[in-house]
Order: sequence, then C-alpha cells, then structure tokens
Amino acid sequence: MPALIIHNVRKTYRLGKVMVPVLHGVDLEVDEGEVVAILGASGSGKTTLLHLIGGLDRPDRTSRNGKAARIEFQGKTITAFSTRELDRYRARQVGFIFQFYHLLPELTLLQNVMIAGMIGRTEPRLRERASELVAAVGLGHRLAHRPAELSGGERQRVAIARALINAPALVLADEPTGNLDERTGGEVLDLLHSLRRERRQTMVMVTHDHRTAERADRIVHLKDGRIVESGSREGGPARSTPI
Ligand SMILES: Nc1ncnc2c1ncn2[C@@H]1O[C@H](COP(=O)(O)OP(=O)(O)OP(=O)(O)O)[C@@H](O)[C@H]1O
Ligand SMILES: [Mg+2]
Repeated sequence: MPALIIHNVRKTYRLGKVMVPVLHGVDLEVDEGEVVAILGASGSGKTTLLHLIGGLDRPDRTSRNGKAARIEFQGKTITAFSTRELDRYRARQVGFIFQFYHLLPELTLLQNVMIAGMIGRTEPRLRERASELVAAVGLGHRLAHRPAELSGGERQRVAIARALINAPALVLADEPTGNLDERTGGEVLDLLHSLRRERRQTMVMVTHDHRTAERADRIVHLKDGRIVESGSREGGPARSTPI
C-alpha cells in the first residue's frame, strides 16, 4: 500500500484571460519511507506539483476527460479536504524545504525553527526540540543569529531543521541543494538523508541535478506535464514495484 498516491492531477494557472496549463495528468505512487526524486527542466512544473502534494494549492477540479484529480496520503484524500483540514495536514504531516529557504529575516535561527512547531498546537518541549534539531544540522552555536548572518548552506540547513520540527510523515524538498556549491550541497544532502532515515519519513524531492537525484530510491521525470518513470515507456505507470 503506497503512502502517497497522486492520480490524474492537472494544474492550470489563470493569468487574467491567459491560461497556463502546467500539469496534464500526473500519476505517481510513493511507498512509505521511500525517497523519490522528480527530475525536470526549469518551468516543467516541479514546484507546482510539490505545492499540490503539500496542500499549499489545489489541482484543477475536473480534467478534460471528466475524471477528478486525487491526492491521497496515508489513506486520507487530501484533495477532498476542507481549507481547515488542509491547514492541519500542512502543519502536522508535511515538512516543506523550499527552493529559496523562506526563512523569516527578523527572527533568529532558533525562532525560525520553533515557529513551524507553534502552528496549531502547544508544544511544551518546543524550545528544547528546536535547539536539538539546530544542533543536529550543525548550527547549535549560532542559535541567536539571524538568517542574514548565515551563508546559503547554513540557511538551507536551518530550513531542513524547520521542516523536521513537527516530525512530519512526509518531507517535500524543492531543490534542497539548488543554490549551493557541489561540496556544500553534498553535505546538506547527507544531513537531510540521515535525519530522514532515522525518522523513516517518506520524501519527495524535486531537482534538476542528476547527482542529487541519484541519492533517491527512485528517479522519475516530469516532462510535458506528466510523470515518466526512468527507463520506462513514456506515459507508463510510475511505480517502484509491480502491482
Ligand atoms: N502562480 C503562478 N501563476 C502563473 N503561472 C505560474 C505560477 N506559478 C508557476 N507558474 C508557471 O508554471 C510553470 C511551472 O512553474 P514551476 O515553478 O512549477 O516550475 P519548476 O519546474 O519548479 O521550475 P524551476 O526548476 O525553475 O524551479 C512555469 O511556466 C511558471 O511560469
Ligand atoms: Mg521550482
């Protein structure tokens, strides 16, 4: 039973009268604890797809063939969630590592990590847990610093700590090494993989870097608005194991 099921997902952006179709029927299944890398060119819709999986946006309601888009995580249909249920899902089950960090500049590093843990609950040990995570990403000595005082690699590590504060079952990483040099990127990736492995989290990572993608259990490609499994026929089913 896959943890994440994405079925017939379409997304069209509307800019005034202009329609920008991006996803044309994405199908993908990800097993519990599996790491899937989605490779694709710039503008192919990788970030769009992650936003849909993470409940930051919704897919088109009906497709041209009339079949509804469906995203399920751990047996729950995300695409049927109310706004409130989506908020809960995002806060409790999803850890997002954004392409451009999205750290809050006014807050210290520790506060940036803590704030993600404050949404929708009161957590008694929040400060300790946030400190532990910041230490785990190697920045325990910089807790009171602000993002502007950190390097790109350090900011990305803070973003990883923030994504993991709620012990999310699903980690969504958008170009987690995209702005880093090769060596720093490799280190950040090592860290992300080891933290994730300890917690047995399912992860979907998007990238246009082959080296980053090769660290995943499975690589799929986003091309022409659809998912194509590596080595499989275009449009073939995207699954790790035969059904
Ligand atoms: N809010 C929006 N409104 C209109 N068009 C958008 C919006 N967000 C994205 N797009 C368009 O959708 C397409 C896919 O964008 P997306 O950000 O998902 O690509 P990407 O694969 O993540 O690219 P990159 O590798 O450069 O980050 C692009 O053509 C983009 O211009
Ligand atoms: Mg992107």
